[in-house]
Amino acid sequence: MTAALPLYPQRVSEEQSVNSAEAEEFLDRVYAEGAAEEGTRFETRLAEVRAEIAETGTYRHTAAELAYGARLAWRNSARCIGRLYWRSLRVRDRRRVTDPAAIAGECVAHLRQATRGGRIRPTVTVFAPDAPGKPGPRIHNEQLIRYAGYRLDDGSVLGDPRYTGFTERVRRLGWRPPERRGSFDVLPLLVEALPGEPRLFTLPPDAVLEVPLTHPDHRWFAGLGLRWHAVPAISDMPLEIGGVTYPAAPFNGWYLGTEIGARNLADEQRYDLLPVVAELMGLPTSSERTLWRDRALVELTLAVQHSFDAAGVTIADHHTESRRFLAHLEREERAGRRCPADWSWIVPPVSGGQTAVFHRYYDEPDPALRPAFLPPANTGE
Ligand code: ARG
Repeated sequence: MTAALPLYPQRVSEEQSVNSAEAEEFLDRVYAEGAAEEGTRFETRLAEVRAEIAETGTYRHTAAELAYGARLAWRNSARCIGRLYWRSLRVRDRRRVTDPAAIAGECVAHLRQATRGGRIRPTVTVFAPDAPGKPGPRIHNEQLIRYAGYRLDDGSVLGDPRYTGFTERVRRLGWRPPERRGSFDVLPLLVEALPGEPRLFTLPPDAVLEVPLTHPDHRWFAGLGLRWHAVPAISDMPLEIGGVTYPAAPFNGWYLGTEIGARNLADEQRYDLLPVVAELMGLPTSSERTLWRDRALVELTLAVQHSFDAAGVTIADHHTESRRFLAHLEREERAGRRCPADWSWIVPPVSGGQTAVFHRYYDEPDPALRPAFLPPANTGE
């Protein structure tokens, strides 16, 4: 049987157009999970969306569809251990905001609302989608808050080596580092609302909560002058829902202590602090067999956790979060759903075998699963 669909003039080429099958699959899920606008029928909505796609090449999600789509994208994130809370994601619908300064302003508002003085709330802000012939805005930063990395003449790096390329890029575009450059200089936002017109915006310091790092037992630790930002807000992963791509949809959760203590500050390609900490702990670093790296790693992670706790900033620990993830998995299975997970991302980088997530395998991640936060587009680095 073929439904009598109204015929519309073809105004957009088909390859630019949203694939109606993807839209249908998404709507199907929204209605099946009871997340649609109250009083609306699946068949009615589907016909409406099909007609809109035929006419314009795309369609507008309702507020409920957008919110649920974003939550599903989180639920589908195979690398995320924190998915137990996927339903609680706050979705800020900012699809109408298109001016670059206003986009930056909304990123700042996002940070304030997500930070809440330390009681961090998972939040996503969704800007305009790509439409046929009209790309949506892009945020070129990997995260809303990150620290500059300056390549020095002697070949070393001051700050976060991960961002030397990005730092050079924003400097070429006119960003001026602080007069006294440091290891933790917050980078500006690089927003491209109109293709070919990237614009820089400095984050107001009061929108960037940071935690100075101290250690519960080692007084000397504070003297290292380390700090980290409270909110990890990824801003370069497009959000795809029902065939529609939102290229700018920054989202945040809260930190897991190991992400900072056992990776950002510890990795050799990042702040590379294990030799420094081990030295101050008086550990012999001449032989791997003293396990100085492992001992320093634990103290660094403990310092991060202790400092966030002392500052009243939400942070998870890997033991608790591992148990919560397995609770999530169980819930999903009870709901009759698969829960794809990437073992190498889920298992924490310290004490893996001491956490429950280590001792099993998971459903293979499916790169075609939607809705999803997609791998970052190459943003012209
Ligand atoms: N690992 C990244 C970082 O340290 C953040 C990734 C997202 N993490 C999170 N807890 N939501 O900056």
